[in-house]
Amino acid sequence: MNFFLKVLSVFLLLYTNLAQASHDETAGAKQKLPDVSQTYTPGIGEIMVGIQIRHAKLWYAGLARNWRLAKYELDEILEGFEDAKKYQPDFKGKPIAEMIALITSDPISKLEQAIEAKDKAAFKKSFDGVSNACNACHTTYGYDFISIQRPTTLPLTNQRFN
Ligand code: HEC
Repeated sequence: MNFFLKVLSVFLLLYTNLAQASHDETAGAKQKLPDVSQTYTPGIGEIMVGIQIRHAKLWYAGLARNWRLAKYELDEILEGFEDAKKYQPDFKGKPIAEMIALITSDPISKLEQAIEAKDKAAFKKSFDGVSNACNACHTTYGYDFISIQRPTTLPLTNQRFN
């Protein structure tokens, strides 16, 4: 066998072994791992921390009149509420969807209108309205000590809000 053929056969052998090993691994992994989508459920507290960050970013987006970013952050907050409904429909025996409807119907729609109208004064006012509605729900569930307000410093400095 010439040198080239020898090298080629070594590579072929290595490749077949590796391919077999990786096949075994995937087959094994398929059997062992449970379906994560069926077992992981985010808690309300986890969803709320995401909402909290968006709430703070929303404020700075509005202050900077960055209306596209403001709209985006508000939509993310609404997605958080959707997750809460989906994953924790009966939190502490109280239907979460009903409580969410209270905040989305009036306070959030006022904020949406302010963003749409690019009206900074209305934005500030309706932002406080939303924060009050956050707190109303916290109180209903016995978490009156979780009190939401206007942020006083930028939540993150690696993102531009203006
Ligand atoms: C539908 C009711 C409801 C609404 C509306 C609501 N929350 Fe909450 N929030 C809760 C509940 C219940 C908890 C406690 C969760 C737990 O114990 O797991 C909570 C917890 C929190 C926490 C504490 C999270 C932590 O682990 O430190 C923050 C922050 C928070 N909410 C922010 C907000 C903000 C901001 C809004 C409004 C944009 C809001 N929430 C609207 C029900 C609500």
